[in-house]
Amino acid sequence: MASRQPGSQQRPENIVNKLKGRRAFVAGASGFIGTHLCRRLLEEGVEVHAFSRTRRVHNDDGIQWSQGDLADFPDISRVMEKIKPDLIFNLAGHPVAARDVHQVQPSLFSNLVGAVSLLTAATEVRCSKVVLTGSLEEPETSESSGVPSSPYAVSKWACSAYARMFHALYHLPVTTARVFMVYGPGQKDAAKLVPYVIRSLQNNESPRITSGSRQIDWIYVSDVVEGFLALATAEGMEGKSADLGSGNLISTQDLVMRIASLMGSSLQPTLGAVADRPFEQVRVADVEQTYKMIHWRPVVSLSEGLQRTIEFFGEGRK
Ligand SMILES: NC(=O)c1ccc[n+]([C@@H]2O[C@H](COP(=O)([O-])OP(=O)(O)OC[C@H]3O[C@@H](n4cnc5c(N)ncnc54)[C@H](OP(=O)(O)O)[C@@H]3O)[C@@H](O)[C@H]2O)c1
Repeated sequence: MASRQPGSQQRPENIVNKLKGRRAFVAGASGFIGTHLCRRLLEEGVEVHAFSRTRRVHNDDGIQWSQGDLADFPDISRVMEKIKPDLIFNLAGHPVAARDVHQVQPSLFSNLVGAVSLLTAATEVRCSKVVLTGSLEEPETSESSGVPSSPYAVSKWACSAYARMFHALYHLPVTTARVFMVYGPGQKDAAKLVPYVIRSLQNNESPRITSGSRQIDWIYVSDVVEGFLALATAEGMEGKSADLGSGNLISTQDLVMRIASLMGSSLQPTLGAVADRPFEQVRVADVEQTYKMIHWRPVVSLSEGLQRTIEFFGEGRK
């Protein structure tokens, strides 16, 4: 096995044994989290089949790629019939929590219709585990009258409800990772907060942000990936979900100041340059509950994770 970085998870041998030789299907494998997940699955000796809308010219990364739109049921059904995976991960989606009405259609199709197509195809091929990606933005399941805060939030909330239905009605072994705010190397979307702030400071510009008061639970990408592996191999998680977050909150202003300090910059953020979003929620991961269910805990501290991310963006990947 490849040598691990300090702060990496020490997973029990039985988890390693449960992965080796398995055949996994990863939707959204070209994305930020999907790329990291595929790399880890390959390290564990898993046969990785990846799916995205982007056509690949070269298949030289050890991954077997298929092309298609997850929201197109015949596409995904055909691919799943051919591969017959026993582990399925859904990292595909439209991860944009902006409130404007133009987000409704892409959120509906890429997040909800895509996930439901995958669940239907998975039921037909009979796999041993499906892991969906939920979000901190989803209202709690106990809040039956809760109002989702965005087109993204409602699509993820509905995905989790569908997952519970597929488990209850069709006995699909599906579990949902309720993922908090992820950061780390390889996040290509320059509009996301951490890459944006690092790039602004590299250019000696003050990051233009909201009021900075929102409290967020940030989780490093390798911790999220280890959480996915734990969920894929855990027993008794079918029909349930588990939080993958750090269990700690930090305000956006303090996060920006932390990044500036690690980069040796004295620039202050320009507060209020971007409007705060309405109905912003404060949610923190219940890490102890997740540990009880799947024996997973985050191990990378915020400072360590930010340092690794800054180093990544400092290596010419701008
Ligand atoms: N990043 C976070 O902080 C965070 C937090 C909580 C939950 N999540 C969830 O985690 C998942 C992955 O997030 P991410 O940050 O890795 O996002 P990302 O970098 O945008 O990756 C998502 C990938 O999904 C693929 N995709 C989108 N629509 C598709 C469709 N209709 N059919 C097939 N593939 C499609 C895209 O690939 P192609 O364009 O190549 O098709 C894209 O690379 C998403 O479901 C997101 O909502 C993310």
